[in-house]
Amino acid sequence: MSNPRTVPDVSQLFEVDPRWDAVEHYSFSHLHSSTASPSNDVLTHAIKRQTEANLPNIAVSPSQGKFLMLQAQMIRAERILEVGTLGGYSTIWLASSRKNVKVTTVEISEENRKLARANLEQAGVLDRVESLLGPGVEVLPKLLEEVKAGKRGTYDLVFIDADKINNWNYFDLAVQMSRPGACIIVDNVVWRGLLADEEEAKRNENVRGSRTVVENAGKDERVDGVVMQMVDEKNYDGFLMAIVKGDD
Ligand code: DHB
Ligand code: MG
Repeated sequence: MSNPRTVPDVSQLFEVDPRWDAVEHYSFSHLHSSTASPSNDVLTHAIKRQTEANLPNIAVSPSQGKFLMLQAQMIRAERILEVGTLGGYSTIWLASSRKNVKVTTVEISEENRKLARANLEQAGVLDRVESLLGPGVEVLPKLLEEVKAGKRGTYDLVFIDADKINNWNYFDLAVQMSRPGACIIVDNVVWRGLLADEEEAKRNENVRGSRTVVENAGKDERVDGVVMQMVDEKNYDGFLMAIVKGDD
């Protein structure tokens, strides 16, 4: 079955270097061996199911997924929030960070949510995941109310990977729901290198959404952040990473 990519042909937008793919495969194959967890079988299966379901080929790369898992382990995250589940590929990584982790993941599409749950079950981590259905702009304010009411614990790590126009809304809500020292990561802010392009921001709401979160986070006394550019086999993109201040 063909996979209709919503991702434009990136070679039209920037020079694609075959070394990016080679380095991804070389390093991931050495650093994520056949005995590593989550297993390569589980990861490959999740991507296969997602492709068969005609979802766009926009899950994080294997190395980015592993980076998220290691980040969660570094800060000993017990409670993780993900905005934008898609087929659950990044969710598998986050839920594999430790046995007693609880991941709340929010997805707008019931079909995607179902697929993600099947993939999480296959990965043996479904019991660590609470998957909520609805647009992030509606679900996150409810979660915040629960956090404020003491009915829900604060988050240690938040991964934002949904509609880019709402990046700042999600980020601001995430900060309010996070403990001091928490880590907030926003996917896709570099957007094929267009982040720094003011003209592009006028016509492209994805770039606008990412510029808004970068600029607002920079002015926000509650956080300190950085953008890391990344390349892989299908894209030139990157994460905004921020820490919620106040635990030092
Ligand atoms: C694209 C990539 C993503 O990771 C995402 O969340 C949405 C879109 C893209 O490259 O089009
Ligand atoms: Mg993404």
